Amino acid sequence: AMDVLKFKVNGKEHTVGSNVSSDVMLVDYLRNYLNLRGTKYMCREGGCGACIVTASKTAGGPFVSVNSCLVSVGSCHGWEIKTIEGLGNRKDGYHPLQKSLAENNGTQCGYCSSGWIMAMHGFMESKKEATMMEVQNAFGSNLCRCTGYRPILEAFKKFAK
Ligand code: FES
Repeated sequence: AMDVLKFKVNGKEHTVGSNVSSDVMLVDYLRNYLNLRGTKYMCREGGCGACIVTASKTAGGPFVSVNSCLVSVGSCHGWEIKTIEGLGNRKDGYHPLQKSLAENNGTQCGYCSSGWIMAMHGFMESKKEATMMEVQNAFGSNLCRCTGYRPILEAFKKFAK
């Protein structure tokens, strides 16, 4: 028998049902089984960043960016996963990164926005005192086709020193 597959999503423990193959990609599990549609996808090969979530792979460990199109639920056992809905939302209030992206017009069609925010969240977790240059260099992980990158960079500027 297959071992029980468990992980946390936005603070809540999930047991992956035996009806779900462990090969299902995390992005599809989040969207289709947990109905968390804030996580998007496009390329499904790690190139666009639309699917980025953050995860802590050891209890109490730092959250790091994860391309959810590249990991199967089978690899997520024991992880603590955070999606855009868990970072901030209308009911509980928005995270400063979400507010800043909106205020700086860094979102147009909005499709890439959660990926950018979660990538930046992961980056800030790994590097509390990032310089602007380091933030800029971390920009390689995500694509935007509407606004250009200037407003997005502008939105994240205040989180660097
Ligand atoms: Fe493009 Fe995952 S869908 S990086």
